[in-house]
Amino acid sequence: MGMVITITSGKGGVGKSTATGNLSVGLANRGKKVVAIDFDIGLRNLDMILGLENRIVYDVVDVMEGKCNLNQALINDKRSKNLYFLPASQNKDKNILDKDKVKVLIEELKKIFDFIIIDSPAGIESGFEHAIFWADRAFIVVTPEVSSVRDADRVIGIIDAKSDKAKEGKEVQKALIINRIKPDLVKKGEMMSSDDVLSILGIPLLGLIPEDEKIITATNSGEPVIYNKSTKSAKAYERISDRILGKEVAFEIESDGFLENLKRLFK
Ligand SMILES: Nc1ncnc2c1ncn2[C@@H]1O[C@H](COP(=O)(O)OP(=O)(O)OP(=O)(O)O)[C@@H](O)[C@H]1O
Ligand SMILES: [Mg+2]
Repeated sequence: MGMVITITSGKGGVGKSTATGNLSVGLANRGKKVVAIDFDIGLRNLDMILGLENRIVYDVVDVMEGKCNLNQALINDKRSKNLYFLPASQNKDKNILDKDKVKVLIEELKKIFDFIIIDSPAGIESGFEHAIFWADRAFIVVTPEVSSVRDADRVIGIIDAKSDKAKEGKEVQKALIINRIKPDLVKKGEMMSSDDVLSILGIPLLGLIPEDEKIITATNSGEPVIYNKSTKSAKAYERISDRILGKEVAFEIESDGFLENLKRLFK
């Protein structure tokens, strides 16, 4: 049975969709069969990040409403053959998702894929709830800013309260991705360090991603930055992909050519 990973955050615009796209490619390129699902109904953009927007015919709501079957809606990435994509609806109300229908879909996907990676919308409304109900693991993306960390804390509480696993008395495994780190500012004491963030949120660290303008170029060209192997963000996403598969990889972050070893191993 496949594992459901939901990528979420408290504050919007912190890098969830970018992380979903790159980690989906990372896992697919490690031989795992992966489906990336966009749950940001009405505001999709994972399709752009993956460069698959021109191939969309049906979307996730069409599948749930029986307008097409799953195979008709799944888009297979030509660059990464193990990667499939299920787009969000562009023209529908964001409250359209139905809990039982989402469950049926996820159960079906779990039979086919090793990883089901759900890109959650910003905010804690209906789309967010659907994205976390059936999660086995939740990756919470934050930027090293007080507002982002505070909102993440709230989301962690909601995951603990509302997920299906929580209702069964089990726990969704949560881990933190700290995005847009500027090592130079951290060194000068002008940006929260990963230790600051971790001590507030109290969940294990999964990865550190530096601020990298190559991410913006990558999104504009529809090729996830992880393909551009020499970039600092690609290296960060590669390390996270390894950790998701249980490898112990040192927590390092690259600042203008240097590798800064944060002397911390993911457990
Ligand atoms: N490490 C990074 N360095 C530089 N830019 C980044 C980085 N990560 C993400 N971005 C940029 O930040 C913006 C927001 O990223 P993204 O769309 O992934 O966030 P999101 O959390 O999915 O947003 P939303 O909450 O609206 O769904 C994008 O323009 C993206 O290119
Ligand atoms: Mg997004």
